[in-house]
Amino acid sequence: MKIELPAAILQLDQRIRSEYFVRAVLSGRRRNMQTEYERIDIKPVLIKDEIKWQIISSDGKKDITKNVAADFSFNQLFESGYANLLVDTQDESYQVRISKKDEALVAITKVKLTRDLSHDRQKMRMLPESNQVFKALDLSDLLGRIKPSKMDKYKQVDEFLRLISQTLDTDLSNQDEISVVDLGCGHAYLTFAVQEFLKDKYRKVSILGVDERDDSKAHNEKVAAKLKIEAKFIAAKIADTPNQKVDIAIALHACDTATDDALYWAVKNKAKVIMAAPCCMHELQTQIKDSPEPWGLLTKYGLVKERLVDLMTDSLRAQILKLLGYRVDIVEFIGGEHTARNILIRAVFTGASPAQIDKERYLQLLEQWQITPYLAKLLKDELKAAAQIG
Ligand SMILES: C[S@@+](CC[C@H](N)C(=O)[O-])C[C@H]1O[C@@H](n2cnc3c(N)ncnc32)[C@H](O)[C@@H]1O
Repeated sequence: MKIELPAAILQLDQRIRSEYFVRAVLSGRRRNMQTEYERIDIKPVLIKDEIKWQIISSDGKKDITKNVAADFSFNQLFESGYANLLVDTQDESYQVRISKKDEALVAITKVKLTRDLSHDRQKMRMLPESNQVFKALDLSDLLGRIKPSKMDKYKQVDEFLRLISQTLDTDLSNQDEISVVDLGCGHAYLTFAVQEFLKDKYRKVSILGVDERDDSKAHNEKVAAKLKIEAKFIAAKIADTPNQKVDIAIALHACDTATDDALYWAVKNKAKVIMAAPCCMHELQTQIKDSPEPWGLLTKYGLVKERLVDLMTDSLRAQILKLLGYRVDIVEFIGGEHTARNILIRAVFTGASPAQIDKERYLQLLEQWQITPYLAKLLKDELKAAAQIG
């Protein structure tokens, strides 16, 4: 429906002041107009028994929040250059798109929303939903909101960035350049997000994404061009990735032993930080025919055996890295409701010599279960040199 712009703005203003108001979003730019922010979100909040409006302005990198009272002029905001103006009340979504001719194209849809008056900020995200990267990757919509079907991916990326950021200050602070290699990068959601996250923290960020699929390389190069960033992508097996300098090696859900190939490549190239979230694992499962007693109590159940051996695989990966001089922790990087594959091995190189107890435990476990992890085979020489194992 096409109406005069002042009439549409009056509607928006009435709705934002109504007791049923849920949220508003202002985004996009009108022709020949500039906006101060990329996107503005507004919601009602209850502060000391008084209803106010919380306005969150985002420039795509950080958010600025302020709370305003009844005398605030929303009209000014509505006319400040944004092309898409959306105001949701509990039962109606009123959406205005301002055309090139400054007409208001209005769409009204029925919705069922709950009014939330809490003023605690939503969990601070490492990159806001409206960041250009998520737009370029098609994770967010025209209004800069993450699409519901992509929310899990966004949360996963956010959590990954949070975990990376924890090591930046402690382990990667004395440098002004950083090199990141994403092994098994797929459509590079994480790769681009990491690049975006690091670009303000380091003078130069070098990015390499590796995936065996040609279509991933083609897709990722297109996204890099759209974002006007220099990131290199190669279509290759992880095991065939050329050696290069690397500060952070990443492998998010590289299938089965591809995670081991990634860990091997990272160790060989002396990665300072390794972040690997393993995927499906079969290799050790097939090696275990009989379990040492009393573990038969668990392994007699197929499902339990599978989970136990998955945990053993990851614990052994962590132990191997520890024996090679890495400080290792295993963390849950996102709640199980988002993906079942929620273990992350985070390793930071310290060069510490392995403790005798760590060597003994490792060797005993292999001996008792009669297994040789694939990663141990790959890193045979390194284990011999660092821990006199093999
Ligand atoms: C489950 S996807 C994960 C993609 C991405 N890391 C993410 O989390 O969005 C696994 C990716 O690893 C790639 N891959 C699996 N094995 C590989 C190997 N040995 N060498 C290179 N790429 C591999 C697949 O092509 C796929 O794109």
